Amino acid sequence: MPEISDLRDAFTSRFGTHPRLIVRAPGRVNLIGEHTDYNEGFVLPIAIDRATFVAGRARADQTLRVYSENFGEEDSFNLATIERSSTHPWSNYVRGVVKGLLARDLPIVGADLLIESDVPLGAGLSSSASLEVAVGYAMQLLNNVNLLGEELALLAQGAENSFVGMQCGIMDQFMAALGRAGHALLLDCRDLSYQLIPIPPDVRVVVCDSGVRHTLVGSEYNERRAACHEAVRLLKARLPKISALRDVSPEQLQANADLLPPAILPRARHVVTEIRRTLQAAEALEHGELAAFGALMDASHASLRDDYEVSVPEIDALVELAQALPGCYGSRITGGGFGGSTVSLVQVSAVEQFATQLAAGYKARVGREARVLICTPSEGVSRAAAY
Ligand code: GLA
Repeated sequence: MPEISDLRDAFTSRFGTHPRLIVRAPGRVNLIGEHTDYNEGFVLPIAIDRATFVAGRARADQTLRVYSENFGEEDSFNLATIERSSTHPWSNYVRGVVKGLLARDLPIVGADLLIESDVPLGAGLSSSASLEVAVGYAMQLLNNVNLLGEELALLAQGAENSFVGMQCGIMDQFMAALGRAGHALLLDCRDLSYQLIPIPPDVRVVVCDSGVRHTLVGSEYNERRAACHEAVRLLKARLPKISALRDVSPEQLQANADLLPPAILPRARHVVTEIRRTLQAAEALEHGELAAFGALMDASHASLRDDYEVSVPEIDALVELAQALPGCYGSRITGGGFGGSTVSLVQVSAVEQFATQLAAGYKARVGREARVLICTPSEGVSRAAAY
């Protein structure tokens, strides 16, 4: 984690004056409920103890200067003319959020911002959502604007949809804004109501970053989303009341499978079965039925691999290795897919050995280094310092 005093000093030496505040917004890992959020279904993520930090100070003019410690680059733009940047792609998350605040007619002035994140980039842990929410919250505090956590999450999601071009759902931004220490959230992505489910003290959530990154994530993701939309359109011929795959049960899908072309049916099957698994998993977790929870994670992976086709061989290898290790209840790909990370639920007494053996097994089988993170369920966005 970056030291708060280092962030303050870095800000001071770059901008010639100290910041007024530092905020942090976490990344997230989803335990189960993948590719269900944009189908108005349920997800079960935790916010993690990795975060994006933003140090900031308001300016008297309309200029926004922003420095990224991770990229070692500075960008600056005028609030009156916010366009997409082709030279600093990371800055589009900042630009999109600021543009979103202005589009809501909020009284925003310019600012100097310094950003540093320890959420691994491209690992499926929502580094972009944590950046969007941290910037939105910093701008909110610097301008004395009051937004609810839900509003901030929606604004951040809107920035990514329209400014970055990734048609993501609400899960990541919602967790960056409203995650809760010690808990997973069973989030209903239709109405944004949620239930807090404590993570039992005798298990750990273990993330393993495969190191594999696919460049076409955005377009593949948008394509999956379009397939779900098409499935709803076709199913409406016999199920006129549905408005999302959330409204279709696995049994209804099976009974109406003839309406869907072979390329679309498995996509819809993943979504409707995953929504059911997520509800069952939340109930299992609440009752401490960890073996049942783990079996649902394993089934989720198989569905994402075979029906939704968002896994890659390196991730499948990690999941198989994890599932065979002592103390592991279940393991699956997490996040959007096409590379990224796996998530496993592991007995606390076995976790150190699990981490070592998983990394060693991956190296032996795939020839790559895996990065293992033992995650603590953490709070959503907050102020880390004020001066
Ligand atoms: C990405 C998106 C989320 C969600 C997941 C898949 O992380 O940003 O909205 O759709 O993929 O569950």
